[in-house]
Amino acid sequence: MKQTRRRLLALIIATAAVMSLAGCHTDMWHQPKLKAQSANNFFADGKTDRPLVTNSVPVGYLRDNEAFYTGKVANKPVAQLPVPLTRELLQRGQERYNVFCSPCHGKVGDGQGMIAQRGLALRRPPATFHTDRLRGMPVGYFYDVITNGFGVMYSYASRIPPEDRWAIAAYVRVLQLSQYAKTNELTPEDLRKLQESTTNTESKP
Ligand code: HEC
Repeated sequence: MKQTRRRLLALIIATAAVMSLAGCHTDMWHQPKLKAQSANNFFADGKTDRPLVTNSVPVGYLRDNEAFYTGKVANKPVAQLPVPLTRELLQRGQERYNVFCSPCHGKVGDGQGMIAQRGLALRRPPATFHTDRLRGMPVGYFYDVITNGFGVMYSYASRIPPEDRWAIAAYVRVLQLSQYAKTNELTPEDLRKLQESTTNTESKP
């Protein structure tokens, strides 16, 4: 019985000691430090924040791949996709295109999206992609239009990240081909299907 009481006492003392050790570290809460954007007369400009070293870049923002991030090299739109052309890329492009572009440009890129059909306030109608001029544009041009806007069309840079801009640009090419495939570029199999599905097989140049 006596032993039990002694053990209990020892336990209480040990607990109290641990608690007091843990609780006494107020020095951790009062550290000499500088708060962001506070005044400071240590530096000549009177500010705590130090100016960034010239050319410093936050982690993950180096963006040294000019073609990928601007769609241009030496100020000219690139003709080659800077990402691998895969089925996944085109499917992603289709999905993103339908979300962001089809309301104006239409699902096939003919400029007949719902907004255009309803005649909602746009100073100029959405472009169709099926013109000789736009068919002849390098893929980087479409990336650039998405990034910087064009005429009355505003920039989508804040809403569509670079990866998705390329996916959409690649898909715009798909749409262009969908309305303007040259029959001599089709496989015999596809040509046969085409001839079966339509009696109007007028070939394009
Ligand atoms: C709110 C409507 C609207 C949306 C959404 C929109 N556009 Fe446009 N787009 C326009 C209009 C309007 C023009 C014609 C601008 C002009 O001529 O001033 C245009 C023009 C273009 C052109 C033609 C540029 C040229 O050289 O003639 C391309 C390419 C284009 N858009 C691509 C896209 C893509 C890709 C998306 C989706 C990321 C998109 N647009 C989303 C309204 C829109």
